[in-house]
Amino acid sequence: MTPAEPDFPALYAHHVATMAARFETALAETDLDGVVIFSGEPRYYPRDDTTAPFRVDPWFTAWLPLTDVPGSALVVNPGRRPLVIYRQDDDFWHAPPDDPEGFWTGHFDIEIAKSGTAARSLLAGLSGRYAAIGAPDGGPASDGFVDHAALLARLDFSRAAKTDYEIACIARANSIAAAGHLAVGAAFSVDASEYSLNRAGPGAAFRAGASEYSLHQTYLGATGQCESELPYASIVAMNAHAAILHYQRLDRAAPAETRSLLIDAGARFKGYAADVSRTWGAPDAGFAELLESMEALQQTLCAEVRAGVDFTDLNERTHELVAGVLSEHGLVNRSADEAHASGITRTFLPHGLGHLLGLQVHDVGGRQSTPTGELRPAPEPHPFLRLTRVLEPGFSLTIEPGLYFIESLLRRLDPELRRMLNFNLVERLLPFGGIRIEDNLVVEPSGARNLTREAFAALGQE
Ligand code: GLY
Ligand code: MN
Ligand code: MN
Repeated sequence: MTPAEPDFPALYAHHVATMAARFETALAETDLDGVVIFSGEPRYYPRDDTTAPFRVDPWFTAWLPLTDVPGSALVVNPGRRPLVIYRQDDDFWHAPPDDPEGFWTGHFDIEIAKSGTAARSLLAGLSGRYAAIGAPDGGPASDGFVDHAALLARLDFSRAAKTDYEIACIARANSIAAAGHLAVGAAFSVDASEYSLNRAGPGAAFRAGASEYSLHQTYLGATGQCESELPYASIVAMNAHAAILHYQRLDRAAPAETRSLLIDAGARFKGYAADVSRTWGAPDAGFAELLESMEALQQTLCAEVRAGVDFTDLNERTHELVAGVLSEHGLVNRSADEAHASGITRTFLPHGLGHLLGLQVHDVGGRQSTPTGELRPAPEPHPFLRLTRVLEPGFSLTIEPGLYFIESLLRRLDPELRRMLNFNLVERLLPFGGIRIEDNLVVEPSGARNLTREAFAALGQE
């Protein structure tokens, strides 16, 4: 069944009202009259006349479903309609942005600026205490703007809880990503029906000739997004490469033997990100069984996401469960409790359980404990945990447990922990790299919506 098309214009109207209310409060609390949010400028490579792909300031897209209007600005001043200074140069080198159109336009005053000078002159008349976000060179304190730190702390903190519009956008980004993942599955597996993602059936075989590079191209083709549009560079890692957490090299040649594939690849919709990982594996050395256990573990964790949960507790719970998997599969010769208490799980899972997700793949405010900017650092044993907040309804986040065979970390284990390991089995699994299973969830009062599983299910897959 195809899910009903969200009513984006209605959702957006509500979203803009929420943004206006959040900004009004934050501006009043920081004694500001308003704020100018710049979309950003193209950035030139050093000593070159070409630019990096344009990345809009996320606060601009938090208001406007626009990702490709460099040089533009939004003026927010409570009590007035927000003003968009929409940059549309006469430029025969580049395609200028289309005329403003779509469901957003009715909520703003819009001024077209045909040059940077014209855009600046439209801002020159502002009087009062204004902060700037994403200001071009010169920083936020230039051009008479007031420091933005206190304002930004409040705004970043508020962004964790998504509006229904934002959730619909992240859900759509997940649908696009799911189509990409399924296309990769079909290109990778001889008989895709024999597999579900994150599993390997007995007798399953991988297509000869599929390389990391070819699967990356398959993903781009199926999502219809070019690399610069994706929220992050896709990780397409075969065999031992799956142990490299942010693996970026794409081997052009297919490996002589294919044992596993870890693909961590997202998509964007109206600036909002999906961040999805799936792992496939051959049924050797117990890897298929390990995949099954990790799939069950990931689903257990997803079922424990709800408002009021301290994410640092859920992260510790992950290590408790991973210890169970290590013990059950004989990777360690100790009980689950002993393995957990020893800290050995951190060698197999060095990254955090998840992070906030939204306009940025690692969305802002994950380690903020108050709207005024106090931080709650990651717990000492888990320095890479990016989310240390107590979950609230509307938070959008990833749940991405993993289990990896990382040679450098295994080598670094102290002798006492090393004695816990079943090294023969670890060595047989090293060539598989590892497992990561990553879904995108939205917190609800008594549970969570799993946008990624919904997206796969709508395409007829688990
Ligand atoms: N794709 C990066 C991450 O999972 O956080
Ligand atoms: Mn992630
Ligand atoms: Mn990811």
